[in-house]
Amino acid sequence: MFSQKLLIRLKNAFNVTVLTGAGISADSGIPTFRGPDGLWKDQEVEKLATLEALENEPEVFWEFYNWRRQLLKDIKPNFAHFSLVDIENYFEDFTLITQNVDNLHAIAGNKNLVELHGNITRNRCTSCDHIVPMEQMAEQAIPYCDKCGAIMKPDVVLFGEPLNPKLLRQAQTASAECEVFFSIGTSSVVEPAASLPYIAKANGAYIVEINPESTPLTENADEVINIPAAKALTALVLILDRIR
Ligand code: APR
Ligand code: ZN
Repeated sequence: MFSQKLLIRLKNAFNVTVLTGAGISADSGIPTFRGPDGLWKDQEVEKLATLEALENEPEVFWEFYNWRRQLLKDIKPNFAHFSLVDIENYFEDFTLITQNVDNLHAIAGNKNLVELHGNITRNRCTSCDHIVPMEQMAEQAIPYCDKCGAIMKPDVVLFGEPLNPKLLRQAQTASAECEVFFSIGTSSVVEPAASLPYIAKANGAYIVEINPESTPLTENADEVINIPAAKALTALVLILDRIR
């Protein structure tokens, strides 16, 4: 499944960076965004994940996000998430960058985690940035801030919003510094995350893509493992156990 070249790289690597997308949570039962069963197959849905929708149609916006939170209830990390916790322990310097907002990497227990697109289990005030975790949220169709009264948004990056510059910098630095870069379960089309493997490659890293389907990254990767993430990463842990 893995090439000899990759195993030699991993045997000696100090610094490894992983980027994940919706595909890693597919085995937990969360629909991906793109693809035949994707959440975004209805174009209208993509318009909902925007600041304009929050401003102009807050009921519809919040109905959509409450539904997405509902989808996450009782959902647990799968073997792919848990394998990444094990993999983190094999390397001195390991960064997990995720585009997912589902909180599953944090629940699984990765320590050096960069949630590039935020986390849907929190609300953030659109005016004063006050944060409310899910456990403390009141039952409201539209949540308003206890501190200042402004409307709250889920603490995720909406379409058209900039990413948190500090998190983006952290992700770019981890990509530039790693010796092996894994891109796992992402369609590699949404910027700036889609550029991270190219930053890694330009700085000499070996690029591995894990995805059953091909993406724009596929032909630029050094190695492609085209099977589901849970299967590939479970196998990788067994190998690391042997070589590290
Ligand atoms: N293992 C690995 N990859 C998988 C699996 C699996 N079991 N199942 C599906 N995939 C792959 C699909 O082939 C696809 O390439 O996961 C990818 C999911 O792609 P998207 O749905 O586009 O998700 P992602 O790349 O994370 O989207 C990026 O777009 O809508 C925004 O902000 C949202 O963070 C999201 C961003
Ligand atoms: Zn506020």
